[in-house]
Amino acid sequence: MILASTRRELREALASVREHGLRIGFVPTMGFLHPGHLSLLDLAGAGTDFLAVSIFVNPLQFGPGEDLDRYPRDLERDLALLEARGADLVFHPSREEMYPFGDPEVTVDPGPLGLRLCGGFRPGHFRGVLTVVARLFGLFRPQVAVFGQKDYQQAVLIRRMVRDLELGVEVRTGSVAREPDGLAMSSRNVFLSPAERADAAGIHRSLLRVQDAFEAGERSVGVLRERLVLELRAYPLLSLQYGEIVHPETLDPVDPVAPGGVVAVAAHCGETRLIDNIILPGGAHGVVA
Ligand code: PAJ
Repeated sequence: MILASTRRELREALASVREHGLRIGFVPTMGFLHPGHLSLLDLAGAGTDFLAVSIFVNPLQFGPGEDLDRYPRDLERDLALLEARGADLVFHPSREEMYPFGDPEVTVDPGPLGLRLCGGFRPGHFRGVLTVVARLFGLFRPQVAVFGQKDYQQAVLIRRMVRDLELGVEVRTGSVAREPDGLAMSSRNVFLSPAERADAAGIHRSLLRVQDAFEAGERSVGVLRERLVLELRAYPLLSLQYGEIVHPETLDPVDPVAPGGVVAVAAHCGETRLIDNIILPGGAHGVVA
C-alpha cells in the first residue's frame, strides 16, 4: 500500500496507475475509521482496479465552535485497517498540502439543497464538503467514488455536483453500517459517555417506529413526525435538532409521505451531534441506496 502525503507523491503514483489503464475507485474520509468506512472500500473496489482512500480532516467544513480541533485521529490504526482491507493507496495531506494557496477563494456553492436539513444548522458546511471533494476529484480523477448513506444530504449534494458540473465520476452510495443496537457507526461515537451511548441508540429505534407506522399504512407527514418526536422523547439525553421526512432527491418536506421518502434526524447527545436516517421501504429505487 502506497502512503502519499504530498500532491506530488500522489500524482506520481497515480500517473503510473493511469499509464497501465487501470480504473481508480476512491473513498474520501476524515479518518478514525470504523467498519462503515471500510464497507465503502468494498463498493469502490467492485469493477475497478486500484483502490484509493484519502484521510483529511477538512477544516473548510467545520464551523466556528465545532469540533475541528478535537476531531478524533489515529493514523497508524487507520493505515493498518486500510491495508488489511485491500487499499492500494492512502493520501494523507497536511492542511498546507491540501490547500497550498491558502483556503480556496473559488468554492462550490451547494445551492438550495445545501440549505435544507443539516444546512440550516451548519452554515458553510456543505460548501466546505463540496469544495474539498471537488479538489480531491481533481487530484485523483477517479472513475468511481463512494459515499455513505449515513450522510444522506452529503451524498445527494455530491451526486448533484457531479451532475451539474459534469465531473465524470460514477458516484456510488453505501448503506449505513450500524452497531448491534442500531446506532449508526460514526467516528464521533467515541465522545459518548456510557449513559449517552445508551440513549444514542434511541435515534435508530425511533426511526424504526416511524417505519413501522408507515408500513402499517400511515402517510400523513404530521402524524409520522409527531411519532418520531414522541419516540425520541423517551431518551432524555437526546436533544433533537431536526426530525424531517423529505423527498429523496429534492429534500423538500413531503405530504403525503411516499415510499422512498427519507426520515432524517439530527440530535445532540451531550456535546456530540449525531445524524441518522432511513429510507422508507417500497420505493422503486432509492436515489442514493
Ligand atoms: P467521514 O465522516 O470520515 O465519512 C467518510 C465516508 O464514510 C462518508 O461518505 C460517510 O457518509 C461514510 N460513513 C460514515 N459513517 C458511515 C456508516 N456508519 N456507514 C456507512 N458509511 C459511513 O463524510 C466525510 O468524512 C467528509 O465530509 C468527506 C466526504 C470525507 C469530505 O471531507
